[in-house]
Amino acid sequence: MAKKLRVGILFGGRSGEHEVSLLSAASVLKAIDRKKFDVVPIGITKQGHWLAAADAHSLLEGDTSAIARRLRAGDPDVTPGAKLLHEGIPTLMVPEPANGESAAKAALATASPAMLDVVFPVLHGTFGEDGTIQGLFELAGIPYVGSGVLGSSAGMDKDVMKRLFAQAGLPIVKHVAVLRSVWEKSPRKAVAQVEKALKYPVFVKPANLGSSVGISKAHNRKELGPALDVAAKYDRKLIVEQGVGGPTRGGKPGAKARELEVAVLGNDDPKASVVGEIIPGKEFYDYEAKYLSEGSVPVIPAKLTRAESKQIREMAVAAFRACDLAGLARVDFLMEPAGRRRIYINEVNTLPGFTQISMYPKLWEATGINYRDLITRLIELAIERNQDRTRNAYSRMEQ
Ligand SMILES: Nc1ncnc2c1ncn2[C@@H]1O[C@H](COP(=O)(O)OP(=O)(O)O)[C@@H](O)[C@H]1O
Ligand SMILES: [Mg+2]
Repeated sequence: MAKKLRVGILFGGRSGEHEVSLLSAASVLKAIDRKKFDVVPIGITKQGHWLAAADAHSLLEGDTSAIARRLRAGDPDVTPGAKLLHEGIPTLMVPEPANGESAAKAALATASPAMLDVVFPVLHGTFGEDGTIQGLFELAGIPYVGSGVLGSSAGMDKDVMKRLFAQAGLPIVKHVAVLRSVWEKSPRKAVAQVEKALKYPVFVKPANLGSSVGISKAHNRKELGPALDVAAKYDRKLIVEQGVGGPTRGGKPGAKARELEVAVLGNDDPKASVVGEIIPGKEFYDYEAKYLSEGSVPVIPAKLTRAESKQIREMAVAAFRACDLAGLARVDFLMEPAGRRRIYINEVNTLPGFTQISMYPKLWEATGINYRDLITRLIELAIERNQDRTRNAYSRMEQ
């Protein structure tokens, strides 16, 4: 029998999506194929401390109904990952490649030093999904699930991402990028620049973040300034986008944009899942609609014509390639609710929500890959990508 691979499951982290990550990791720990993998859970606290548990199995005893209680994700009595973050042993990943012949590439300074064959960063948002931790894995020479440094950071930055989409001929909404420094120094000029290019309502976003944090819909000039101020708390680059949706009637907001999502899986030959749709319970899919209220409904597959769905799946793969992604990504679209039903690509998420009931795994389930096999496939893709990378020479070779 082949040797079991030691998989480090990294979760928590310093981002605003810490709690979501705890839930994703709890699901992965529960479902991962233990015949194939030995699992080493590694938690990162909100302050950025790395912790490991001496006995991974003890972590799995948590209450599994945690997923239903999203708000309590950080509670050690409810979520196994939160328990680890309270009781774990400080640990560190050494950013030096281990010089062994074995596949084990990184040492963990735990009570009993363990070696990892591969890491699955079940982390979302800043420091998890943005290329920073991927840089650490590269330095440590350890295979990891998901996109590399470039793809991760490009997929995090809405400004850079849009340029890559545009260059690949993908339809994006009209937008204006404003630097925070410009907004603060010459607010009138910034407003004029926005109003020249776009019509209200517009969406104002920090370029780098997720979970709708810092995002507002501005229905008029009066709301634009405060919206830019909010976004400016989170990033030095701000994006103002043309709102997609039905026309405003008599001061009432127009129909919402349709929100379509596709799961992509693979490395150099990525495949797209069926298309899913989220019907947000609020005026848009804001932080509250995503995590706090129960009102948002997923529909799989989305109600679309065959041609629309084919087009969206092709665009998802093209977006994956445009950002040079690897392993997995959820690609999100906005569609006009009526009329010409124009479709725009909104963003890629390189480490999307990964609980068993999250959109990414659900989309693959509907396409024929169950959650356990999906985790196995992602780990295989990480190893394959690393093998490909180890072929590269870093300095000039004799011809
Ligand atoms: N241009 C737009 N038109 C209509 N709705 C939008 C637009 N941009 C964002 N939204 C709404 O805001 C939500 C969050 O925006 P998004 O760009 O996906 O940010 P995040 O990376 O935080 O998920 C979307 O899911 C959608 O509901
Ligand atoms: Mg989004």
